[in-house]
Amino acid sequence: MSQVTVLVGAQWGDEGKGKVIDILTENVQYVVRYQGGNNAGHTVVIDDNKYILHLIPSGILHAKKICVIGNGVVVDPKALIEEIDFLKEKGIDVDGRLKVSDKAHVIMPYHRKLDALRELKKNGRIGTTKRGIGPCYSDKASRSGIRMGDFFDAGYFRSILEENVEEKNALFKDFYGETGFSADDIFNEYMKYFERLKQYVCDTVSLLDKAYRRGESILCEGAQGTFLDVDHGTYPYVTSSNPTAGGACIGAGIGPSRIGRVLGVVKAYTTRVGEGPFPTEFRSELKDKIREKGGEFGATTGRPRRCGWFDAVLVKNSVDINGIDSVVITKLDVLDEQDVIKICVAYKYKGDLYDCIPGLPGFLDNCEPVYEDHPGWLKDTSAITSYSDLPPNGKKYLTRIKELIGSDIMLVSVGKNRKQTFACKNA
Ligand code: GDP
Ligand code: IMO
Ligand code: MG
Repeated sequence: MSQVTVLVGAQWGDEGKGKVIDILTENVQYVVRYQGGNNAGHTVVIDDNKYILHLIPSGILHAKKICVIGNGVVVDPKALIEEIDFLKEKGIDVDGRLKVSDKAHVIMPYHRKLDALRELKKNGRIGTTKRGIGPCYSDKASRSGIRMGDFFDAGYFRSILEENVEEKNALFKDFYGETGFSADDIFNEYMKYFERLKQYVCDTVSLLDKAYRRGESILCEGAQGTFLDVDHGTYPYVTSSNPTAGGACIGAGIGPSRIGRVLGVVKAYTTRVGEGPFPTEFRSELKDKIREKGGEFGATTGRPRRCGWFDAVLVKNSVDINGIDSVVITKLDVLDEQDVIKICVAYKYKGDLYDCIPGLPGFLDNCEPVYEDHPGWLKDTSAITSYSDLPPNGKKYLTRIKELIGSDIMLVSVGKNRKQTFACKNA
């Protein structure tokens, strides 16, 4: 491992980042979330225990590791307290190990309400998680947001809160015909949350800089995925942050020259939750079969995930955008029962072949995936512990993916548990 490693989702999220972060945490001292908020749902399964982390880095399950919620994350304090309490109930103490940036923006009740109302608007549906993520990042960009550090000065917090509530209430009333919020009520509610959370709030940029200078190692945990990135994703069907590797520099405050390695987590097929184009989406009964076998239901909202074939054009672009050095292929076991497995190798659009994704309206909705067919391996891979024991067609599938995406494969995952993972030097 490099001293600073960034791990990103290479598709549309839910690639299995939580499992991989948990495995890699063993080799680092710090794990840092750098963007997104509690729209994320990162699952870690240890023996018979399942943990779903939304805001706290997935490294928290390893005792003694320091877990940082960076400045680029948007924090819903109520959700954070619930997560801390959930972990404490499971016997995992976070005190002294959890650090929250004083520059992280705070999700307010009016953000959640705006998110939900915008989703009801005709033609406006993104299929968001309704956690208030987009409206909170909008306020950050328009310089009216509230940050975790602002609670240290109750008078200052109150003054910006009142300005925000006045503006948002006019929008709720005049545009949406809805009731608004009381600044008093929010002030009292949020100051109570702050009493609980203030022990964790600090200057995390300086904390990470000192750790770096001491030679300690840092793993940056991306949430969401490359094609949900507000710049590089399938806009407007994206989230409002930068899950791509560059986002780690901004959202953790770690300069680019300090980042030594970028890892991509890639599902052996493709999924997406919410609206938006998805060229390789299954149209047949495979849709339900893979969803059931892969347990493809949202870890945050429980929504059924849309499923489709592996899209090598998408992942190759992800390797390039993120500068991915190597990938972890997850959920290979989910394809065990397929006699034919397809890989999309190009898009056909108006008679031309594409290996990239131009920002033309409707391109991904209307392009036709060009597929290669691969014979399946028709064997249970979930108990396999080394690459050499994979069935030959499983090896061929991985080798072809490696060629098409132009990246080494570091690890392969064949089940939810830590042990169902093996190195993959030879693909
Ligand atoms: P994340 O958001 O990228 O952390 O991924 P999620 O936790 O939302 O979704 C991944 C799901 O797949 C979780 O339920 C994991 O327990 C599960 N999972 C991870 N790796 C594997 C694997 O190799 N095989 C199978 N069958 N399930 C896996
Ligand atoms: P993890 O980290 C999959 C999707 C939502 C919606 C879009 C915008 O678990 O991979 P938002 O609430 O962010 O404004 O919703 O982004 N989305 C995710 N899809 N995994 C996630 O996180 C996601 N976080 C947001 O479904 O399409
Ligand atoms: Mg998830």
